[in-house]
Order: sequence, then C-alpha cells, then structure tokens
Amino acid sequence: MKSVKLLLLIIFSTAYGALEAQDFMTNVYGRQSLSLNGTWQYIVDPYETGFYDYRFNEKHEKDPGAYWNSGIPVNKTAMVEHGYDDKNTLEVPGDWNSQDPMFLYYEGTVWYKKSFDYEMQGDDNRVFLYFGAVNYKADVYLNGKKLGSHIGGFTPFQFEVPVGLLKASDNFVVVKVDNKRHKDEVPTVNTDWWNYGGITRDVMLIETPATFVEDYFIQLTTPTSQLKPITKRAEASGWITLNGASEGEEVTVEIPELKIKKTIAYSGERTPFALSMKKVELWSDTNPKQYDIKISTVDDQLNDRVGFRKIEVTQTDILLNGQPVFLRGICLHEELATEMRRAATKEDALKLLGWAQELNTNFVRLAHYPHNEHIVRVADSLGILLWSEIPVYWTINFSNPEVLAKSKVQLEEMITRDRNRPSIIIWSVGNETPVSETRTEFMKSLVVKAKELDPTRLISAALEVHYNKELNTVNDPLGAYTDIVSVNEYIGWYIGLPSYCQTATWKTLYEKPLIISETGGGAKAGFHADSMTRWSEEYQEWLYEEQVGMMKRMPENFSGLAPWILVDFRSPKRNNPTYQEGWNRKGLISDNGEKKKAFFVLKKYYDEKEEEGK
Ligand code: GCU
Repeated sequence: MKSVKLLLLIIFSTAYGALEAQDFMTNVYGRQSLSLNGTWQYIVDPYETGFYDYRFNEKHEKDPGAYWNSGIPVNKTAMVEHGYDDKNTLEVPGDWNSQDPMFLYYEGTVWYKKSFDYEMQGDDNRVFLYFGAVNYKADVYLNGKKLGSHIGGFTPFQFEVPVGLLKASDNFVVVKVDNKRHKDEVPTVNTDWWNYGGITRDVMLIETPATFVEDYFIQLTTPTSQLKPITKRAEASGWITLNGASEGEEVTVEIPELKIKKTIAYSGERTPFALSMKKVELWSDTNPKQYDIKISTVDDQLNDRVGFRKIEVTQTDILLNGQPVFLRGICLHEELATEMRRAATKEDALKLLGWAQELNTNFVRLAHYPHNEHIVRVADSLGILLWSEIPVYWTINFSNPEVLAKSKVQLEEMITRDRNRPSIIIWSVGNETPVSETRTEFMKSLVVKAKELDPTRLISAALEVHYNKELNTVNDPLGAYTDIVSVNEYIGWYIGLPSYCQTATWKTLYEKPLIISETGGGAKAGFHADSMTRWSEEYQEWLYEEQVGMMKRMPENFSGLAPWILVDFRSPKRNNPTYQEGWNRKGLISDNGEKKKAFFVLKKYYDEKEEEGK
C-alpha cells in the first residue's frame, strides 16, 4: 500500500516539484508534543518574490532574499528586502481570511514564521514537525532548510527533522502557504464554500524514540449474529506498524478495563494481532462506549480510545451492530459562522455538534472535505455517526491521471488519520460529480481504493438525481459500486415549489440502502412573510414540511437523510444583496446562531423517527 503511494507521490511530486510528504503518525493527540500554535509572523507575497528570483527561477537555499531565511541583515550594509516583524502576525490554527479585512478574499501566498527553543529529551530520539492541515499548498522550512512540501488543504502531514538541524534556542520554522485555486487540484477552481487559506489546524513538534508506534488499526470481528449491546465474548483483530523497528521487537496492546494485555513480536509493517475479550460494551449512537487503549514498545507509549462497533448493509437497511439504524442527519461545513472563520478547535467542535444534537441528529455529513480531528473525536464521545468526504467536488478534471493520484493521496490521508474513530461509518469519495464514462471510471477507482484502505466501513458518494414532479429515478452508474446510494435533491428550491414534493416518488436502480445526502432551501433569519415569498423563514419552513411529508412516503430502502445544512456558511457564489451578501443561507441556524423556523420542523420529524426506531 505505502509503496504504491510512495510511487504516486514521487511521480507527481517530481512533476509538481513538491517533495513527498511522508506517511504521518496517527493519533498525535495521544502523545506529548510541543505545540507551535499561537502567534506567527507573516509576509504577504502575491508575486512569490520570496520563492522566485526576478527571472522566476526558484531561489537558491542560501539566498538571503529567500523568505525561508529570516531576513535579519548580517551587517548594516547588507541589502535585504524582506523581514518578519511583530507588526504583522496571524494566529495559528486559523484561516487568514477572518483575521484581517485585507485577507477576506485573498488567494495567493503568505509566508508564516515562528521562532522557538527546543531541548531534546533523549539523545537517540527523533523529531517530527506535524501539521493538522494547511490550505492548500505548504512548503516547510526549518532554520533555512527545506523539509518538504504538501498539497491538499484538509489532511495532516509531517516531516522528520534531520539530526543536527534543531538547536537548543532560536529555531525558526517558515511555512509558505499558497491557497490559489487551480483547475487540476482537488478541489478544482469551482466550489460553493469560502477558500479559507492558511495554517488552519494545529501544528506541533513531536519527539519520539528511535522506534515508535506510527500506525495501528483495531476492529471488532465478532460475527454480527453474536453481537449484543454487551457482548459476552467478543473478538477483535488489528495490526500495528512501528517506525524504526527491527524484527522481533515486542509491542504490547493493553485495554485495562477489559483486562487485556497482549504482547506480540513485531514482524514488519502492519504486524497483525487478535484479541479475545469478555463482556464488551459496544459503541453506538445511543451508547458511545469507548475503552482506553495503550500501545507500547520498550521506549514508546501511545494512548488512545477505541469504540467497538460494526457497520454493514443489507439491500434495504444500514445495520449498526446488527440492528437497522435510521440516519437522522444534517450536513455541516467546517466553519464557525458566528465568527466567520474555519472551525479549528475542540471548543468549536463542541459548539457545532452541540447544535446538531439540539436538532436530535444521530448523523452528521462532514461536507465536502475531511474536517479537523477534534470534531471527529468529539463525535466519538457524543455518539454521532459521521460521513467523511474528500473534496472531489463537481467538475474535477477526471481525465488527468495526476488529479486521480492527488485524490487517492487525500483519500489515503483521510482514512489513515481516522480509521480508528468509531463515529465514522461512511467514507465518501465525492460530491455531485457530473456523470460521464471518464468520471465514473475515476470515481469507481476511488471506491475500490477506499475499500482496499478500509474494508470495515461503507463507501459512498453524493450522487445527483435529475428529478421531476413525479418519478425520481436514482440511476447514476456510480451507484453500482458504492455500498449505499446517496443522492442530493432540491425539490422545492432549485426545482419547482415545495408542493412538488407531494407528487414526487422515488425509485432506485440498485438494491441498496438509499439516503438523501442533501436537500433544503435558503432563508434569511428574521425575514418573515407568507410562505410563497422566497428567502422568508416561512418559505423554508414550508419546504421542510413538504420534504418531511415526502420522506414519510419514501420506499423501503430509505435509511436516512442529511439536509443541507446546519448553519449558514460563507460562499463567494452567493451574491443576492438583500438575502445572501456572500452567505449561503440554507442553514437551519443563521450566522448569528439563531434557529430558523425550519429547524423545528426537522427536529419534530427526528423526534418522531427516534420514537419509532428505524
Ligand atoms: C449542492 C452542493 C453544495 C451546495 C448546495 C447549494 O448540492 O453539494 O455544496 O452548497 O448544493 O446549492 O447550496
């Protein structure tokens, strides 16, 4: 697996000049680290003067005019035309758009710089610089030396710090961040969300022993027929990958609450192990039980939490631990609308998922890209089932093999980071991609790749259905390859009036569970009028009433919905000067945190669905 990725990375890294980003260590929050969050100095560089000389060749590493060098003149005569100063600072994690009005629409390069001291804890230890995400391209330098590059705005990456580069004091890390949109990137140039640029997630320096626990996976393997909320005898299997280990090294897996302590001899990447456990309380949306787990070697120890659960499908149902589950969902962008910024912290996650819980959801579709790890871990603890997605969105360039390679790298990075998170039940390989033979081959290869990376979860993609007043047929050819069929429909908003729902019927070509992965309409909070007046809360309320009426008449394989969207969100595409002003107003909650009337229509439906079970 990793060798394929390495080959892909080398192929297009060479083409793109981006060095390969290594496999990153998972569960960084289970480790001690030096946080580099906080105030960073910056230089805005729209012409990339800090990277190219006046003939547009990449500057030499030692060039004092390169912005990866500190810019401090060596003497009073030295000619230096850049520098980092406390006059210009940005907070990390955080997008730049929301931190200064001049950045609101900025798309280009910003250089970030952070100085720090560091005392090594052990002579033979190793040090890694880890980024939760940088949107969109990052070039990372430490003390003037390039560590590497990463492309992709929503997944983690790390670089090992070469021995001897780190000093006890006055280190400085510089990151060149470029959020320009390009046709052959993922996403492409056209998205219905704000192109927030910057070091948008946590940054930390992680010191490890020479050999450390890099990755692992643990999953419940008990036959579904034997599963009970408390399963007397449960089986689990998994694997562990160490970095820097030699054959035979001992690795111990402990789950104290289950009196499990198992030591295995390391035999190479993904060394397998199996566990037999007694009286295991399963993880579910109604009982998000997690167990502390510790994975350790002679010198390394990693703590995590795991939830044991199974997710499967029949022709008509989604089964959680063998029982049909109905997904009472909502869609969510990674944005704190009340502060007009990317969500980035655990507090942000608690606020957003708290709103989702007020709606009585048990399912959140994280649109349209992998969200930060905090929101996934908070969902683990709250028992909210998640759909996680790579930004293969709309008109990606399906005919370019490098776009496919980039999509696969982002897919692997998304799954690698979160494969042990019980809340995630669905990996989505894209959203509303226009049907063509080239596109379906592209998307099918992503479905196959996702299944290879994680055979324990459901694979889907938000398909499009071309609906009408009567029969709506779900016949997207991609539906032949996904585990569930998910479709976005906007009856009552983009097509016809909400009353069209009354005569709409649905048919799926595939004998698989069907979920409505988007539906909805806009309203300006506080704008009240009759229900025929577009943008009023009453129109949106009427739309939800008609949609709920239709949901109650869906076919037997209907297994859930995730209306678009929990909160109003920023979009440069939404420019109605009265009702939008750069906001997509389909939220059930406004950018001021006000619940619109439609919120209560959906909540009432979810309360009823919870009452009746599946
Ligand atoms: C599409 C798309 C969303 C978009 C929404 C809308 O279905 O998936 O990203 O924001 O519709 O038009 O508001």
